[in-house]
Amino acid sequence: MNPLKVTGKVYWLGINDRRKFLFENMWPLDKGVAYNCYLILDNMTALVDTVELRSGGDFVSKVDAMLNGRRLDFLIINHMEPDHSGEIKAIIDKYPGVKIVGNLKTFKIIEAYWGIKDNLHIVDDGDTLDLGYHKLKFVMTPWVHWPETMMTYDQTDAVLFSGDAFGSFGTLDGGVFDDEINFAYYEDEMRRYFSNIVGKYCNMVQKAFKKLEGVPVKAICPTHGPVWRTDPQKVLGLYDKWSKYQTEEGVVIIYASMYGNTEEVADYIARQLVENGITNIRVFDVSRTHISHLINEIWKYKGVMLGSCAYNSEMFPLMENLTRELEHMGVKDHLLGLFGSYSWNGGGVKNLTKFAENIGWEMAAQPADIFGMPNDEKLANCKLLAEGMAV
Ligand code: FEO
Repeated sequence: MNPLKVTGKVYWLGINDRRKFLFENMWPLDKGVAYNCYLILDNMTALVDTVELRSGGDFVSKVDAMLNGRRLDFLIINHMEPDHSGEIKAIIDKYPGVKIVGNLKTFKIIEAYWGIKDNLHIVDDGDTLDLGYHKLKFVMTPWVHWPETMMTYDQTDAVLFSGDAFGSFGTLDGGVFDDEINFAYYEDEMRRYFSNIVGKYCNMVQKAFKKLEGVPVKAICPTHGPVWRTDPQKVLGLYDKWSKYQTEEGVVIIYASMYGNTEEVADYIARQLVENGITNIRVFDVSRTHISHLINEIWKYKGVMLGSCAYNSEMFPLMENLTRELEHMGVKDHLLGLFGSYSWNGGGVKNLTKFAENIGWEMAAQPADIFGMPNDEKLANCKLLAEGMAV
């Protein structure tokens, strides 16, 4: 395949991974994932990031073919997570003189992973590197997504090599650039990627935005998902919105139910929400839908209703897993409703209430906890929950 040009002397070099089931051995890859890296064929040559080890054939040969007999002068490491740093050693072995560009934290991790201590070119915030035509500037963006993370900004053509930021799940199926794809296919996967992988660090994403304020950006080259050379403002806008926890009107109901009683409450509430004028309602069984998708839905909608049966006097374990992850991520700014059912002394709603105190979301109404099978009388409290969601 001919090298795909982003702009100027910048070329995309990416690998589609359709084999891996779970990203970070945690998050389902229903539509696969792409690892993007970029080769700058200027007076001096530079490779920006690599790919996951052995993720797609002989990576080094692909780089070598694009270099077409030239040597590689610089290997820029924006991020050390192994999905991008897996081929560092192979690149260094192939091009022994290559200078590795990174910051002090990068090099600590490189040494810990690969034992590499030589040919390091240390950069700090705002430092520059002149390749000839392209003048690169390094911007430290810690915790987007690891502590060593930085972005590389090409001042000449206003290209931002952004690392994980502005990335997405989903392979690049022929179309690589934003003007070659139907973005509707990617938007949900992009939000899922953002919420699952970067969502814990929203404040650091906002700090990165502040740093880039007023900086012209004509193209964004992330390490996953589509490359933005035509409408980078679109992806900037989405990441800005998601990292500010801005949601859409609607309610996601997630329930845990052993024998169908809590599920019946969930369905009753869903209908009551409709009676109160809400139309965007999504109902999920926590035992059936992976937490990755549940978090994505929560990131999308303002209203969240969590229901749990009691399980050994506690919350249902998979609901507990979800609430623990939401607390760990520090998700903000939702309207919360709680419900459940029990047969002994309760435990589901009791522990969901503790979660509510910890996460600090606004409550729509008092929780509804139903003893035994639901009936019209017992479900009456749920009407208040639905009304609270509608205001
Ligand atoms: Fe895609 Fe944080 O690595």
